[in-house]
Amino acid sequence: MNKNSVLAEIKELQHTLQEHNYRYHVLDEPTISDYEYDMLLQKLRDLELAYPEAVTPDSPTQRTGSVPLEKFEKVTHPSPILSLANAFCADDIRSWYEKIAKLDPAVKTTSFIMEPKIDGLTVVIRYENGILVQAATRGDGVQGEDVTENVRTIKSVPLRIPVFVSNQVPPERLVVRGEIYIGKDDFSRLNQKLLEQGEKTYQNPRNTAAGSLRQLDPKITRERPLSILTYSIVDCSEKYPESQWSLLEYLKNLGFPVSQLSQKKENIDEVLESIEAWNTKRDLIPYEVDGVVIKINDLSLAERLGYVGKDPRGAIALKFPAREVSTILMDIKVNVGRTGVLTPFAVLEPVEIGGVIVRQATLHNFDFISEKDIRIGDRVLVKRAGDVIPYVIGPLVENRKAGSMKYVPPITCPSCGLAVEHFEGEVAWYCVNSSCPAQLTRNIEHFVSRGAMDIEGLGEKIVAQLVDAGKIADVADLYTLKKENLLDLEGFAEKKVENLLDAINQSRGKSLEKLITGLGIHGIGEVNAVALARKMKSLDGLMTSSAGDLMGIDGIGPNTAQSIQDWFEVETNRRVVKKLKQLGVWPTSFIEVDDTPQKLSGLTFVITGTLPSLSRDQAKTEIEKYGGKVVDSVSRNTDYLLVGENAGSKLQKAIDLGIKRIEEKELKSMIGEDLG
Ligand code: IVH
Repeated sequence: MNKNSVLAEIKELQHTLQEHNYRYHVLDEPTISDYEYDMLLQKLRDLELAYPEAVTPDSPTQRTGSVPLEKFEKVTHPSPILSLANAFCADDIRSWYEKIAKLDPAVKTTSFIMEPKIDGLTVVIRYENGILVQAATRGDGVQGEDVTENVRTIKSVPLRIPVFVSNQVPPERLVVRGEIYIGKDDFSRLNQKLLEQGEKTYQNPRNTAAGSLRQLDPKITRERPLSILTYSIVDCSEKYPESQWSLLEYLKNLGFPVSQLSQKKENIDEVLESIEAWNTKRDLIPYEVDGVVIKINDLSLAERLGYVGKDPRGAIALKFPAREVSTILMDIKVNVGRTGVLTPFAVLEPVEIGGVIVRQATLHNFDFISEKDIRIGDRVLVKRAGDVIPYVIGPLVENRKAGSMKYVPPITCPSCGLAVEHFEGEVAWYCVNSSCPAQLTRNIEHFVSRGAMDIEGLGEKIVAQLVDAGKIADVADLYTLKKENLLDLEGFAEKKVENLLDAINQSRGKSLEKLITGLGIHGIGEVNAVALARKMKSLDGLMTSSAGDLMGIDGIGPNTAQSIQDWFEVETNRRVVKKLKQLGVWPTSFIEVDDTPQKLSGLTFVITGTLPSLSRDQAKTEIEKYGGKVVDSVSRNTDYLLVGENAGSKLQKAIDLGIKRIEEKELKSMIGEDLG
C-alpha cells in the first residue's frame, strides 16, 4: 500500500471510531461490539505508530493522558459559572414561579424544561474550530483549574465536534458546561475490582469522580470510569438556539452526551404534576441525581430575569429528600470473598430509607471502621444512594453509650477458623486457606455464574449446600456428581437432581473463554478471557505460555501476566486443571465475533408486577429475541428487574442486592424497538 492510501485509511479509521464513540456514548445505540471497537482502535494505533505525522489531537488514540502535572494552572471562565437556588417542595416551586411571573409576565406563557440534577461536578470545556482545547473545573465560579488532560481521557467527551452530523460546521468558539460523574454500575464495578485486589473501596460516586478529575497524573484519571452529561453553553461565537429544549438538541447533534430524561412541560402546573414521578423514578436512573432542575425554556427571558447573587432566577433545583437516616449498629459481621478478602458489613436495626427497609450496610473495610471509630451498639448514619448498596457514613458519637468498646477485627477467618493475613501495602485482610469453605463456595459460585460456565439452577444456596455436605471440593468435582450423591440432600427431589445434572453436563459445551473466566484468575474478566482463548487455544496453552507470550496480547500487562502465571503455579489449581481435562471439560473452541450484536446478550432479567402494555410472556419473548435471559427469581446474577405496577417482594430483594430496576419503556428503548 502506498503512503497516501495508508494516510487515507488512518483518517477514515479516526472518523469511524469517533462515530462509534458517539453512537455508544451519546445515542446509546452501539452498532458494533466492544471487542470490535477495541480491534479497530488497535489497528489505528498500529498505523499511527508507523505514520506519526497522521496523529491529530482529536484522534481517538489521543485519550491516553500525557505526563503528570506539577500543579493545575488557573483558568478564567468566559463568564461566571453560576449556581442554582434550591427548592425542597412543590410549594417552593410555586412561590419561585409567582415571584418571577411578577417580575416579567412573559413567564406566564413560557414552557419549562425539567432535567435531572446530576450529582457530579461541573466542568467547562472550550472548543476552538471544533477541537477541544481546554477544560476547567468550576472553582469559585470565576476561575477554575485547568484539567484539560484529564478531561481528554473521558471517552464520552468529544475531542472534536461535530462528531457525527457531517454537514454541520462547528462554531469557531464554543464553551459548554456539563457534569462529570461516575455511573452507578461503573461505580459498583470499580469497587468490586478494588475489593478483589485488596485495595480500599470508594465511598460514593460523586467524591470518587471529584477526586479522579483532580488527579495531577492523567493516567490515573484514565483508569476511572468517568462520564459526562452536558446541559448548557457558556459562550459561543455564533448565534445558538433560543430555547433550552433546542439547545439540548443542538448539543446532542454536535456530539455531546445530554440526558435523555429531560422533559418539556408547557406550563408550571405540568411541572408540579410531574414532581412525584421524578421522585419515583430516581432509583431507576443509572447515575446519581440529587434533584431535578427546572428551567425556563425561553433563554432570553431567563437572561432578562437576571440573578440573585450567584443564582440565576430563571432556573431552580428541586432537591430530593436526603436518603440518610440514623439507626443502631447491632453487629459487625465479616464476609469472605472469592479471593479470600475479608469484608466487614453492618447488621442494622431495620430502618426505612426512602421507602425501602434497610437491614445491612457496607462498612467498606477494617481501616474505615477504625478511622471512624465505629463501635457495635453505636447509633450510625446510613446512606442509601440509588442502586448503590447502602453504606455507613459514620457514628453519631454524642449518642454513644458509656462502656462501648473499640471494634477489633477478627484474627481468624469466620468461615474456616484459620489465622487471617495482611499483605504489605494493601488494606485488606485475607484468609489464605485455599480450601476455606467460604472461598470455595464463592469460587464455585463464580465458576457457574452467567459470565462463566452459566450453569442454570446452581444458585448460591445449592452451591453452599454442596460444599457444606462435602460433595464438592473444587469446581471440577461438579462434573463428577451423580444422581445418587444428590438425592440425600435436603430439598433435592428426583426432577431437580436431573435438571441440575443436565445443566452441568450441558456446560461442557461452553467455549474456552467461558472456562477461563470461570477459573477466577485475578485480573481476568470476560474481555481478557476472550483474548486469551483466541491466542492460547486450550487451557494447556495458557498454562505453558510465557510472560512474553501473555504480554503480547492486547489488554494483558505485566501484572496480569504475572497473576496468570502465579495461578498456574499453585499446586491445587494445577490439579483442578488436570481433573477438568480428565473429565472431558476441555473446550478448544472460542467465541467468534458476532456481526449482529444482540442488544441484550449476556443480560439476565426478572419480571415483577403488571407491565403497562406487555404481558409477562410477551416481555419474556422480546427479551429472549434480543439475546437476553429471563429467570424467575432475583439473585446477584440478575442484571435488571423489569418493574410493573404492584411489584412484589422481588422489588425489595432487588433493592437489597443493588440490582438495577427498569420500567417497560426503558426495556423498549434498550432494544430500540417500538413494541406498541
Ligand atoms: S444548570 C445557570 N443543570 O447543580 C446554570 N446544573 O446546585 C446553572 N447540575 O453547579 C446550572 N445537573 O453543577 C444545571 N441539569 C443541570 C444540572 C446542574 C447538575 C449541578 C451544577 C450546578 C449545581 C447547582
